[in-house]
Amino acid sequence: MCANVYDIVKAEKLTPDVTRLEIAAPHIAKKAMAGQFVMLTVDEHGERIPLTMADFSPENGTITIAALEIGKTTKKLGTLKAGDSLFSLVGPLGLPTELKNHGTVVCVGGGIGLALMYPVVRALKQAGNQMISIIGAKTKDLLIYEDEIEDVSDELHVCTDDGSKGHHGFVSDVLQKLIDDKRDINVVYAVGPIIMMKVIANLTKPYNIHTVVSLNPIMVDGTGMCGSCRVIIDGETKFGCVDGPEFDGHKVDFENLTARNRRYLAEEEVSLRNFKEAG
Ligand code: FES
Repeated sequence: MCANVYDIVKAEKLTPDVTRLEIAAPHIAKKAMAGQFVMLTVDEHGERIPLTMADFSPENGTITIAALEIGKTTKKLGTLKAGDSLFSLVGPLGLPTELKNHGTVVCVGGGIGLALMYPVVRALKQAGNQMISIIGAKTKDLLIYEDEIEDVSDELHVCTDDGSKGHHGFVSDVLQKLIDDKRDINVVYAVGPIIMMKVIANLTKPYNIHTVVSLNPIMVDGTGMCGSCRVIIDGETKFGCVDGPEFDGHKVDFENLTARNRRYLAEEEVSLRNFKEAG
């Protein structure tokens, strides 16, 4: 590997709005574990944003991230090409996924959450679990990491909102069917939009199936100092960046998380509009 630290080694579009970047970061790659994230800054005037790692290779000294281009910073990320470099990159951050042999684990993911789900499924499979994966997207062209997740799963279920591939409906429908079919499920792991994780946690609660969710609160420093990523777990305040990002889904206050994640919407819209007008 001859790239400099934070150089983009490879850049590609997974869908029109999702960019995957492989970045030279040997110090992060050698410590990274499934479930962790990084904080990055695109350029010296940019904001720090958290992104989960979709892969890491200690051998190549690289990490891989996948970003949904919805705001100014992620849109800037989407313009980067191989040979460009990031201004800063910090990680690995957050607690890794608890890797033990639970028995059978159902991993449920949607949208950009599928990028994080891939290393989690892979690591839980390596830990000896029987892995059932349920993945979903609005339409088949927006499904990402399908082949990679299939490769590390014992069973894969695909769902699309419009029925263009797999089950016509939601990931929660498939999980409900597995439960109704009396499949032996020891743990459910969910990552994706807040509403999806909330639905999954509400679904498994009456069955008392331990459910882990990977939360995405707004972060500033990512190291437990600013308090931006406060989440309420079982009535107690926790920090998503250092106490998470994974928490017991049955204890998460999803309403509070949803409200807190909307608090800069107006500013984000202005920033994005200015970026588009400048560009
Ligand atoms: S992002 Fe600042 S405390 Fe977590």
